Amino acid sequence: MPNLAINGGEKTRTEGWPKWPPDDPGFLENLKAVLDSGVWGVNGEWTLKAIEMMCDFHDANHGVAVTSGTTALEVALRACGVKVGDEVIVPPYTFVATASSVVAIGGIPVFVDIDPETFNIDPDAIEDAITDRTAAIIAVHIGGSPADMEPIMQVARKHGLKVVEDCAQAHGAIYRGRRVGAIGDAGAFSFQSSKNVTAGEGGMILTNDPDLYSKCWSLHNIGRVPEGGWYDHRVMGFNYRMTQFQGALICRGMELLPEHFELRARNGDYLRQRLEEVEGVELQKLTHPDNVSAFHLYIFRYDPEAFDGLSRDRFLQALGAEGIPAARGYNPLYREGMFADKVNTDEFPFCPPFYEGTVNYKEVSCPACEHICDVGSFWMSQRTGLADEKAMDDIVDAILKIQANLDELEEEEAAQ
Ligand SMILES: Cc1ncc(COP(=O)(O)O)c(C=O)c1O
Repeated sequence: MPNLAINGGEKTRTEGWPKWPPDDPGFLENLKAVLDSGVWGVNGEWTLKAIEMMCDFHDANHGVAVTSGTTALEVALRACGVKVGDEVIVPPYTFVATASSVVAIGGIPVFVDIDPETFNIDPDAIEDAITDRTAAIIAVHIGGSPADMEPIMQVARKHGLKVVEDCAQAHGAIYRGRRVGAIGDAGAFSFQSSKNVTAGEGGMILTNDPDLYSKCWSLHNIGRVPEGGWYDHRVMGFNYRMTQFQGALICRGMELLPEHFELRARNGDYLRQRLEEVEGVELQKLTHPDNVSAFHLYIFRYDPEAFDGLSRDRFLQALGAEGIPAARGYNPLYREGMFADKVNTDEFPFCPPFYEGTVNYKEVSCPACEHICDVGSFWMSQRTGLADEKAMDDIVDAILKIQANLDELEEEEAAQ
């Protein structure tokens, strides 16, 4: 009789996983209030309230509500003064928008490897990538776990660079006692469907810098200025405004966030501790012991050696069959089509007269990122952290079960 569920054995977990977004009557109440108010777009109170709640929670002085995390990054980068042909340092282990937002405003992403244990950009590798064309660094709090902001800020200040935090996955995350978002010059949040606070789509920029704030405000509001009139467009801008419906959903999401945040962190701590029993699988490490991850994703390191060389992809099939759905995650971004074929290209913005350097993304090599993307990691989604302690036990038990029954997978692999 086989033991592993993939071979017909009993499943480790038969219960499902929490729903996301959660069922909560507060969402409907807020949406109805917007509908009834007749103010669905500009000049409504809900986006302002959403901004206030985000600022309060993240200890930021100013916020601008926009259409997505991607446009939040674009606006923040523009406001930071990134111009056509400027280089922006980004990690390759992130969602494509971190780098595509740079290209969208005419900048050139320069990929700097990650730390193989924290999965965040390696601060020690940043300085070597700085040139006289570098304008900014994007520090991504990947999976919700804060990047190491202190050394990143130090190197940025030394070279006169701006720092934009990509907080798309990190609502409420704590870096050395401080919530993320306004540690760097600006922070860009997303409220896309999967995010820990969601409005289906949406984004927000937080900052403590009043000048940056007013630039972001103008950029997202067709070049208007707060003290100016309706038909008074002083700078080139865009319509990246959020609707009141999105604001209303975020307001309810922000009320739920503290409890969700605690639960995700508690489950994360418990899971980290239980994984000490398992050789070859561990949770993404924090960049500082005092940090608290927002646990948007539970990102795991996987060492095939501890599983007799079992490939990560085969391991994930066996894990999924046990009732623990997990995914392999990102590819190194420079291998994605939009970058991989940019080799001395004449395409805007990668060529003269826009860019004075040359790009050859085929030659980029970030070994730590490649290892974890190709063989050494896997993820569980944002719903995982909202489950209970038993679910965390199920994750660990399923992994231990696979490890104890590797012969079943090896026999099968040999038979193929
Ligand atoms: C790390 C990261 N950056 C940026 C984004 C872009 O956010 P959005 O999908 O709201 O444009 C996302 C989300 O999808 C993300 O995960």
